[in-house]
Amino acid sequence: MVTDFVHEPVLLEEVLTALRPVAGGLYVDGTVGGGGHAQAILEACSPDGCLVAFDRDDWALKASARRLAQYGSRLELYHEAFSGIAKKMKNRRCDGVLLDLGVSSPQLDEVERGFSFQTNGPLDMRMDRRQSVTAEQLVNELEKDELADIFWKLGGERRSRRIAHAIVEQREMQRLETTEQLAKVVEHTCPRRGAKTHPATGVFQALRMAVNDELTEVEFGLDSCWSVLKPGGRMAVITFHSGEDRLVKQFNRRMARPYTLRGEVDLPEWREHRKPLARELKRKAIKPSEFEINQNYRSRSAQLRVLEKL
Ligand SMILES: C[S@@+](CC[C@H](N)C(=O)[O-])C[C@H]1O[C@@H](n2cnc3c(N)ncnc32)[C@H](O)[C@@H]1O
Repeated sequence: MVTDFVHEPVLLEEVLTALRPVAGGLYVDGTVGGGGHAQAILEACSPDGCLVAFDRDDWALKASARRLAQYGSRLELYHEAFSGIAKKMKNRRCDGVLLDLGVSSPQLDEVERGFSFQTNGPLDMRMDRRQSVTAEQLVNELEKDELADIFWKLGGERRSRRIAHAIVEQREMQRLETTEQLAKVVEHTCPRRGAKTHPATGVFQALRMAVNDELTEVEFGLDSCWSVLKPGGRMAVITFHSGEDRLVKQFNRRMARPYTLRGEVDLPEWREHRKPLARELKRKAIKPSEFEINQNYRSRSAQLRVLEKL
């Protein structure tokens, strides 16, 4: 059954303060989801500001199209990954871009999508259902070491090798096809012993990120989003994962520093002076208030970074 698409937008006030939408402006939402941030941006740039919005998930797009129908031609929606924003925008330049990474609560709650270990669905985890790679394929077909690397690098899972070993033993007897089967293997290998978080949390996050190649998307997506900004325009990125935040931080620092580098490492002798291309609004990431975390527990790991094009 398809549940209603209700997703509480995180750091909403902070995003509006960062993007400062005004009438007549043009904005981009690269991860429109249920349209919460998008609606606030469209309201703030009334009566004639416009929003071009993207999502990889057709179901999220349908939900946001319904929610945002009242804005008519002020809104354009595309079923596209945000790394493709520059291509879609062609020569248009915008005043602000928002990326709110990861998945939304309704996606996690939708059993059929297989994102969650809390319910029993197929091991799918694709955001874009046009793509062929699913979590089931990765779990059943990757080598043991490849699985362990994914769990370690993307899920921060300290017991990655043990879990990968257990998965391989289990799949030799029976192909793993459901979220429940996978969660049970992990739980059996790493019993909960009173821990607050479910032992399969890291494994599920890692698989989702691998299926959707999320770190590569961020790496290419930041360049794509940056290229469509006008001078003076701002890019606001919300992350929920330390690896993603690191990529955003590195991108922002690279743009804001007054030099380029002739090598991979930042050595004084490799620096070549140039004007900074951007200004970081704050060096530290903006985090949700305690009040917001109490209202919306999912916001607890959110981090917002804002960069202004010079
Ligand atoms: C956290 S939700 C966004 C919620 C949204 N800001 C709101 O207020 O409802 C993230 C959304 O981004 C989408 N998404 C994730 N990675 C994407 C990518 N690379 N390109 C486009 N959409 C992506 C997901 O499908 C999901 O709908």
